[in-house]
Amino acid sequence: MDKLLITGGRQLKGTVQISGSKNSALPIIAAAILTDEPCIIRNVPNLDDIGAMIKLLQFIGVSAKRREDDALEIRAEQPLGVCPYELVRKMRASICLLGPLTARLKKCKISLPGGCVIGDRPVDIHLKGLKRLGAKITIEQGYIYAQAQELVGSEIFLGGRFGSTVLGTANLMMAASLAKGTTIIESAACEPEIVDLADFMTKMGARIKGAGSPIIEVEGVQHLRGTEHDVIPDRIEAGTFMVAAAITGGDVEIKGVKPHHLGAVWDKLEESGVDVYRNGSIRVRRNTPLKPVDVITMPYPGFPTDMQAQMSALMAVTPGISVITEKIFPNRFMHVSELARLGANVSLEGASAIVKGVEKLSGAPVMASDLRASAALVLAGLVADGETEVKRIYHVDRGYERIDEKLRSLGAKIERVPEENF
Ligand code: EPU
Repeated sequence: MDKLLITGGRQLKGTVQISGSKNSALPIIAAAILTDEPCIIRNVPNLDDIGAMIKLLQFIGVSAKRREDDALEIRAEQPLGVCPYELVRKMRASICLLGPLTARLKKCKISLPGGCVIGDRPVDIHLKGLKRLGAKITIEQGYIYAQAQELVGSEIFLGGRFGSTVLGTANLMMAASLAKGTTIIESAACEPEIVDLADFMTKMGARIKGAGSPIIEVEGVQHLRGTEHDVIPDRIEAGTFMVAAAITGGDVEIKGVKPHHLGAVWDKLEESGVDVYRNGSIRVRRNTPLKPVDVITMPYPGFPTDMQAQMSALMAVTPGISVITEKIFPNRFMHVSELARLGANVSLEGASAIVKGVEKLSGAPVMASDLRASAALVLAGLVADGETEVKRIYHVDRGYERIDEKLRSLGAKIERVPEENF
């Protein structure tokens, strides 16, 4: 296992290229099994979560491999309908095989993914949606069993206590694409990853209208075909580098990004006194003191929960008091106690973090607990005095492609070293 050693205090400067979106690639890979023809997916980031999804596809008899040009080629001639716990538990997004497997095979068995460190992660809304399409769902011994003679289009409401569900919307779009008749998904997730999935599926021959809005209409077809697709850039990776530039008082151009996917993030950064230029790419520059801001996470186009921990790290070194409220995963505050080890002053009040900015953080060993929490620790390490050791960085590697290399190319002092050497 590796850890990151970061010596804080360097301003980041230069240009960084953003990788393909993890959260777009995962459901797109799942959608490729809706057809027995080959699909070629480009701009798929090289990440542990993607590797886990590829392994799962291979387990169910699907051919999934990287070509020489790095594109992912998937061919699901005869997939099996069984996804075991051992593989599903490693990567929660494997739940998005439920929709396509049910649509394609009319019968499948997928392990319940269980919770994770960011909180309770139920799949009740996914199951409610599939039932509306006529699937019979039972849960036995930790497995979801889905069965249907045929899926039939229906009207489905996907809103829950915390808004819509992103992977639930993906699952339902995929299942409805091969159902008989028309499905209306109300309170659908509007995230760019859903639009990307709809674009991919449309190229496969699916008939989808309204993706990106809360009402999606899917007219089922009998057959989908193979296609090629380029995954959109990772808006959360881009947002994380935007904060890296802001927190270090640097000047970074973030390339390959779609600025309109990051409206809520650049707006908050501007409010906190950071210069953000958008012109095809995004350039973030700061040479004045930061100002505190209040942030509330919301479904897209609101401020993303996946940027909450990183924003907390920024506010930890911003003079004044900021309140950061989590509305999607109310317990997603694992980073708070580790930031405190670096000297941050953050207290939790229910689903809000009250952040009193300190003048300086001071390097210390810290432990990554989940993907975005670990990104926050890396960001804090970039400005902490002395050396910060971020342990258990397999969490970072689940979602950031070569983060150490990319930060180093911007001038950060950051090294990946084996944990057992120390
Ligand atoms: N929810 C339910 N019932 C359900 C489904 C969701 O109550 O059946 C609740 C969740 O517990 C949560 C809220 O609804 O409170 C939203 O969850 P959602 O289903 O939208 O999350 P997800 O689709 O499982 C994706 C991303 C997450 C990201 C969330 C929210 C992928 C692979 N994962 O998860 O990304 O935080 O949407 O935007 O796309 C990450 O990349 O670090 C990450 C956790």
